Amino acid sequence: MWLGIDIGTGSSRALLVDERGGVRAGFTAPHEEMYMQRPLWAEQRPENWWDAAVAAIRGVLARAGVEGSEIRGIGLSGQMHGLVILDEAGAVIRPSLIWCDQRSQAQVDFVNAKVGRENVLRYTANPVLTGFTLPKLLWVRDNEPRNFERVRKMLLPKDYVRFRLTGEFASEVSDASGTAVFDVVNRRWSFEMMDALSLDRSILPSCHESSEITGRISQQVATLTGLAAGTPVVGGGGDQAASAVGNGIVEPGIVSCTLGTSGVVFAHMEKVAYDPAGRVHTFCHAVRDRWHVMGVTQGAGLSLQWFRNQLAPSVEYDALTAEAAQSPTGAQGLFWLPYLMGERTPHLDATARGGWIGLTNSHTRADLIRALIEGVSYSQRDCLDIIESLGVAVNSVRASGGGAQSPFWRQLLADIFAKRVVTLETQEGSAYGAALLALAGTGEYASVPEVCRAAVRETDSVSPRAADSAFYQKAHRVYQALYPALQPVFGQIAAL
Ligand code: XUL
Repeated sequence: MWLGIDIGTGSSRALLVDERGGVRAGFTAPHEEMYMQRPLWAEQRPENWWDAAVAAIRGVLARAGVEGSEIRGIGLSGQMHGLVILDEAGAVIRPSLIWCDQRSQAQVDFVNAKVGRENVLRYTANPVLTGFTLPKLLWVRDNEPRNFERVRKMLLPKDYVRFRLTGEFASEVSDASGTAVFDVVNRRWSFEMMDALSLDRSILPSCHESSEITGRISQQVATLTGLAAGTPVVGGGGDQAASAVGNGIVEPGIVSCTLGTSGVVFAHMEKVAYDPAGRVHTFCHAVRDRWHVMGVTQGAGLSLQWFRNQLAPSVEYDALTAEAAQSPTGAQGLFWLPYLMGERTPHLDATARGGWIGLTNSHTRADLIRALIEGVSYSQRDCLDIIESLGVAVNSVRASGGGAQSPFWRQLLADIFAKRVVTLETQEGSAYGAALLALAGTGEYASVPEVCRAAVRETDSVSPRAADSAFYQKAHRVYQALYPALQPVFGQIAAL
C-alpha cells in the first residue's frame, strides 16, 4: 500500500491507496485557525502541521487496520509558497507566513528594482508576487533582522514535514517553482536570483523531480507514528500539481478546476510557455520534463467560508448552496468580488478588496450566497480564458475540491465556463495525487501518466444549459468591468 499526506491550509490529510490507485482509507486532522494579526497577514505554526500530520498518519493506519510495514512508499503534498525558516538546530524560528499572506509588497518592489522585472521573468519564468516565498523571506530580513540572522534553512510547508519525517532538507520542482528563486525552465534553483539579492545559497534544500525518492522514515518517527523505519518518501508536489496528478491532468486537452480555500484552474503543458503579463503561473509539473500553467483565485472556498463564519455560523455548506439555489440566475443583478485576500489572476493586486456590488433593498440572503458563488466562478473563468489564450486546448474541465462537491456549483461552473464539467471517481485531490506520485516513485509504474491512466476515471458530467450560459457570458462582462472601476478606490483604502 502507498500513503499520500497533504498539508493543507485547514487540515492535514493522510490517504492510503492500493497498487491500482484504489482508496483504502483516509484520515483528516484539523489545523489551528490561521493567525491573522493584521488584515492581509496570514500565519500558521509549522509545528502544528507536524502534529496534524502525525495524527493523520496514526489515524489512517488505525482506521484501515494496516501495519506500517505494509506501506511501500509515501508522497507529500501541501499548501504552496509558505515560508518556513529553521535555525542551526533545525528549530522553527518564527511562524510561517503562508501562501495567502500579502504583507510583502515593499519587498516585491525591491526585487523588481534590484534584479529588474525582465531578469526576474528570465530567471524564474514568472513575475515575483507578494504570495511567493522570496518576498516573505525578505520581509523577515527587513523587519525581523534578529530572526533573519538565525536562518540556516528555508523550507516549504510540506518540506518541513518531510524534514521531520526523514531528517532531510529536500524539495521538489513543482513546489519550488512557487518560491520566486527557482529556474522553472531548467528545473533547478535560480542561483542568479539568490546571488542578485545577496542571499546565501546554502539555505536552499536539495531539489528533486516529484517522483524521486528524497529520504526515508527515521527510527524515531517510526516509533511515533507506526510507520516502518526506512520507508521511502518521494518528492511529491505542491498541492496544485499533486491535485492535478490526482485528477489525471498529466496530458494535453483536459483542464482542472479545484475549488479549495483558493480556486485554481490548471492545465498541463508539453513545452514551457508563459503569459507575458504574468497573470497565470508557469510552474514545473510533477511529471518529469513537463510544465503546467495555472490561474489562481485567492478567495474561492474562502469566500463561502468567510460568509458562513461571519453571517451564518451554524449553517452547513450544503444548506448554504441549497439556499443559493433559491435565488435566480444572476442573483437579481448582484455581484461578488472575491478579493478577500487581494487577488492573483487576473489582477495581481494585493490591495484589491472584496465585496458585493449592486445591492438593493429587495436582495435576500439567498442572493448574497448565489452572487458569491457566481463571483468566484467568474474569477475562475478569467483564469480559464487566459490559459486558452496561451494556446492550451480545453475540451472539458475536471472539477474537484470542496466547492465541487456541490452539484449546484458544478452546474454553475459549466454554465459560466460554457464547457462540460466532469467529476472523477476519486475526489481526493492533493493527498491522492501525492499517493500516486509515491506509486510511480517506488517503481510500481514506469511514469506518472502511466499511474494516472490506470487509476483516474471520470464518472459524472454536466453540460452548460444554453439560456443560463448565454446570460452568464453577458454578466461576466459586467463582472469584468467592476475591478477596473474600483481599482483606484482600493489604492485609497490601502493608503488610509
Ligand atoms: C497555489 C496556491 C494555493 C495554495 C493553497 O499557487 O497558492 O493553491 O497552495 O492551497
